[in-house]
Amino acid sequence: MIFDRVKSLDAILATAEKKSLTRTLGAFQLTMLGIGAIIGTGIFVLTAEAANKAGPAMMISFVIAAVVCALAALCYAELASMVPVSGSAYTYSYATFGEIIAWIVGWALVLEYAIAASAVSVGWSGYMVKLAEEIFNVSIPNTFVKGPFDDDPGLINIPAMLIGLVCMALLIVGTKESARFNAVLVAIKVSALLLFLVFALPAINAANFEPFSPNGFFAREVMDPISNNMVTVGVAAAAASIFFAYVGFDAVSTAAEETINPQRNIPIGLIGSLGICTVFYLLVAAGAIGSIGAQPGGELSQSDDALAFVLREIGHGWAGDLVAIAAGIALPSVILMMMFGQTRIFFVMARDGLLPDVFSKLHPKYGTPHIVTMCTGVFVALFAALFPVGKLADISNSGTLFAFFTVAVGVMILRRTDPSRPRPFRTPLFWLICPLAAAGCVFLFFQLSGYTELMFLGWTVIGLAVYFLYSRGRSHVGRSLGSA
Ligand code: ALA
Repeated sequence: MIFDRVKSLDAILATAEKKSLTRTLGAFQLTMLGIGAIIGTGIFVLTAEAANKAGPAMMISFVIAAVVCALAALCYAELASMVPVSGSAYTYSYATFGEIIAWIVGWALVLEYAIAASAVSVGWSGYMVKLAEEIFNVSIPNTFVKGPFDDDPGLINIPAMLIGLVCMALLIVGTKESARFNAVLVAIKVSALLLFLVFALPAINAANFEPFSPNGFFAREVMDPISNNMVTVGVAAAAASIFFAYVGFDAVSTAAEETINPQRNIPIGLIGSLGICTVFYLLVAAGAIGSIGAQPGGELSQSDDALAFVLREIGHGWAGDLVAIAAGIALPSVILMMMFGQTRIFFVMARDGLLPDVFSKLHPKYGTPHIVTMCTGVFVALFAALFPVGKLADISNSGTLFAFFTVAVGVMILRRTDPSRPRPFRTPLFWLICPLAAAGCVFLFFQLSGYTELMFLGWTVIGLAVYFLYSRGRSHVGRSLGSA
């Protein structure tokens, strides 16, 4: 039987041999944790992509993506508090849907985490390359700073590749962000956005909001006159892409076990960090649109370092450089967080026997899962070297949306199959929130470009091949059932 391999929640908790963590986090720390994980390439870079897809109506795209994330976040929090072990959606799916779906989810999470790390690396590279041009007057040819799949192609994106490898090295020696370090990074990111607003908001000209929605609402493919490639445009398509800007809030849900009074503080942390980021994003978008315009094909839509670009265009070059420096300092922390998440998911999958045992080996000196970290780092660096940020973010979103969808459905199933298990956090109005979250994820998934959906499908097919050729026979759950 294909669907009989369900791992019981008790078994999951036992395998993890979890030590109970002390509850130290309050609503404020959780909100900071969320903001630290959320703000990154999405707002700093993909604002350009959103302008190209939706024009000024990208403001609506930001709201749609925020609503879907908030709904998904409330579902995520219930499972995270119920099964507070590593592996997130992969682990929950193992208990709810069984091994094969868990495998597909774990495989999709590679897109969510590893490809997101690649996307942020490319975003970082865009800012650094422009900053080098501005400050040192050096212009590096596209050959070395753009991948071959870029609209404006080069050969290899060396800075993006290098930052991916540096983050990998840091994770191997065991860099762990402390709460204080996170607070400093949040302060840097928020200051950069505030600096942007101080100059961009007064420069708003209402005429720049016209025409408001040149590409309509639903996703459709058109020929991009600048790159001569087919691109997916529309407000909903931009929402599906800009969804990336909100990803990361799951950091809050996974801290459920370390939270004081989780029933109260988890939703405050989730909705608080998403809410604050949404307000910032809308103001930043309004500033960018209003000050220099955001029509598809316009200058903003073609920039690699959107926020710095806007500031330079309106005559505040030094402020643009400062924002770029802030991005240079803060974005690598998002790469670290994403890469860390990926290594822990691989680690858990290896512990379940679905991936080779070496993935769960720890480094004798540093105590970190160095082999899996190296594999992840090389994977991240490779994709960062070859693909443009927009495509990577979309592919990452496809995996995230799939994982969020299974989580939303999983909450509903577990309420039926395991109603009495303690749930430190319960999704409010779950009969409404869960279906809406699931529907929102499906909707956004199908607003992604056909290319992205195809990549997702291809990735899933490869995953299934690996499962049937390798993992199924070695699974610990399968072996214990005697069906391997
Ligand atoms: N939300 C994160 C970012 O925008 C992934 O970079």
